[in-house]
Amino acid sequence: MRGKVVIVGGTGGIGVALARRLAAAGRPLHLVAREAGRLSALASELGASFATADAADPASLRPAIEAAGSPLSGLVYAVGTITLKPLPRVAVEDAERDFRVNALGALAAVQAALPALRAQGPGASVVLFSTVAVQRGFPLHASIAMAKGGVEGLTRSLAAELAPEIRVNAIAPSLTRTPLAAGLTENPRMAETIARQHPLRRLGEPEDAAALAAFLLSADSGWITGQVIALDGGRGTIETKG
Ligand SMILES: NC(=O)c1ccc[n+]([C@@H]2O[C@H](COP(=O)([O-])OP(=O)(O)OC[C@H]3O[C@@H](n4cnc5c(N)ncnc54)[C@H](OP(=O)(O)O)[C@@H]3O)[C@@H](O)[C@H]2O)c1
Repeated sequence: MRGKVVIVGGTGGIGVALARRLAAAGRPLHLVAREAGRLSALASELGASFATADAADPASLRPAIEAAGSPLSGLVYAVGTITLKPLPRVAVEDAERDFRVNALGALAAVQAALPALRAQGPGASVVLFSTVAVQRGFPLHASIAMAKGGVEGLTRSLAAELAPEIRVNAIAPSLTRTPLAAGLTENPRMAETIARQHPLRRLGEPEDAAALAAFLLSADSGWITGQVIALDGGRGTIETKG
């Protein structure tokens, strides 16, 4: 496909793994993230263009995405926050920030990219990120599950509205070893306990998400749209053997 792929959140764990995978496959890239130093280093390593934006201010995404030029063959919104708190401690500000960065940012990113995605013609693909905690309820996840539930609604709505030219899907990971989840994954005992709660008996790796996102951006997934695809070692839907 001729147009660039924009990765918003290009300096995150999953964003970097995906950028490296796509660059190795020869896909032209435009990276968007908030920290110029890490962003420019990665962009120069991969031969990508880049622009800074803060997804907490969704309006800042438009110029950063438009800087990619047109057409665009894909848009990935791999930005996320995580607030794990018991309900009495969830502040309105926590919930507003989670919703703003995860859901409103995704909406603003697709809006900004839309003319350039349409310019690609059939085959353009949008990939958003939800979480296993929408499909299956977990304690302490009220704020982030509410925000990512919005992303799942957005995925299906946009898939309907933008078909047949643009496909829209979301990936719903379980716990994956990235900076976002470091508070849980860097404690070996906690990581092992959570890994055992997955029927496939391990945590996710950034490469698991990068592989699925690359598939959703490719023509091989050309008949898939409006889906929220679980990437969770079975945790969302099946029991472990004990
Ligand atoms: N890791 C998991 O266990 C897990 C589970 C379920 C869903 N997910 C989802 O997977 C996606 C990718 O996350 P990840 O695991 O790769 O986490 P990550 O390594 O922390 O990356 C998250 C990205 O979001 C960016 N970000 C956070 N707040 C931002 C803001 N206000 N403005 C701009 N960028 C902001 C971070 O920017 P900086 O690089 O500048 O920090 C980073 O690039 C997210 O949507 C996340 O919710 C992850």
